Formats: sequence, C-alpha cells, structure tokens
Amino acid sequence: MTEPRDFFDIVRSLRAHRVFSDRPVSDDIIERVLEAATYAPSAENTQPWVFVVVRDPAVRSALGELTTRAWDSGAREYARSRLSPAMFADVDRGATGGVSGAPVLVVVGGDRTHCNDAVLDASIYPAVQNLLLAANALRLGSALTTLPTVLDGALRELVSLPDHVRAVAVVPLGWPARPLGPPRRTPVREKAHRERYGNSW
Ligand SMILES: Cc1cc2nc3c(=O)[nH]c(=O)nc-3n(C[C@H](O)[C@H](O)[C@H](O)COP(=O)(O)O)c2cc1C
Repeated sequence: MTEPRDFFDIVRSLRAHRVFSDRPVSDDIIERVLEAATYAPSAENTQPWVFVVVRDPAVRSALGELTTRAWDSGAREYARSRLSPAMFADVDRGATGGVSGAPVLVVVGGDRTHCNDAVLDASIYPAVQNLLLAANALRLGSALTTLPTVLDGALRELVSLPDHVRAVAVVPLGWPARPLGPPRRTPVREKAHRERYGNSW
C-alpha cells in the first residue's frame, strides 16, 4: 500500500483516467474510497448515495457496450465539434472500451426515497468527488462518467437498480496504465471576482 499524499497534491493531480492496467484492486481499497465518499455533505444529511461495485467481466463488458451505444448515438459527433483532437481521442478511447476495461466499475445511484429530486444530483456529486480524490490519494485511477446514464433503462437493468434509485454516474477504478500529466486548469484570477462580478481579483 502506498503512502497517502498531501491534500493539495491530491487535488492538483486528479485526472480523468480512461485506460487501466489489468492489476486487480482489492476490496480493502474499494472500501476505503467508498468510505471517503460517504463522508460527503448531502441535503439534510440524507446520504442518498448507492454504490453498485461491478467486477464481473460480463457485466463490465455489457456496461462498456452500453457506453459505446450512447457515444454512437449522437454524443461522439457532438463531442468531436467541441473538444480538442487530443481530448476527443482520449474520451473516444474511454467510450469504446477504455473505461469498461477498468477492473472495477462503480455505478453510483441516488435513492429518491431518501432525498428530494430537486437536490438529489447535488447530493450525489460531492460523494463522487470524495471518491475520486480518495482514489487519487491511493494512486488509483478513476473518472467521473455520465455517458452510460443516457441509456438509463438499460443501465438500471444491468445492475438491477430498483425504480426508486436513479443512476447518476459510473466511475471506473483501476491502476493507471500510464501516468497522466498535470490537469490543465484556468488560473483562479480568471475565475474569481472581488466583491462584485467584473472586479478583478
Ligand atoms: C458531469 C461530468 C460528466 C462527465 N462525463 C464523462 C463521460 O461520460 N465520459 C468521460 O470520459 N469523461 C467524463 N467526464 C470527465 C471529464 O471529461 C473530465 O473531468 C474533464 O475533461 C477534466 O479532465 P482532467 O481532470 O483529466 O483534466 C465527466 C465529468 C463531469 C464533471
């Protein structure tokens, strides 16, 4: 097990991983990252998250096919016109087998019986972010993906989600096949305003 890193190093090195090695990921590691996810805030502390941990190669492959189907039915062309060629190639690789090649896929759901629909997604994404950061702390690759949720019915069926649980994201977890560089992000001074919008930082 590798040493956890400084919080700011973890935040500043988090990347979306879409290619993974075959090296297995233990249940202990999965439990550590899921536990971190459960420390997230949620509306009224309803904790509506549901995690379905998929290791079964047949189900992972079916989830991969579903993702490719969603990608092929419009998302690819939309993305091609918006992304840089390098990023498009990365996302394309992920949507056509890279993401589902991870040894573990976590289908993250939101339980509508616990939480008002208006704040359900907002109560799940902080948990997903905690999950991604915890994975990175352990040098495990991950990514937040929503593409498979486009084909909601098929996704729910694959992992037997009941009607009251909405699929919100699918997160691959695995050891990175290759290191990714640092993330490219806009500097704070271009995003922050002092007192009023338009006053530079
Ligand atoms: C709401 C949301 C949905 C996303 N859906 C997908 C997805 O379906 N497939 C995918 O490969 N990446 C997806 N991503 C990952 C983004 O592409 C990624 O976070 C962004 O490009 C930054 O990547 P980086 O951290 O490696 O720089 C999603 C991210 C968010 C926040």
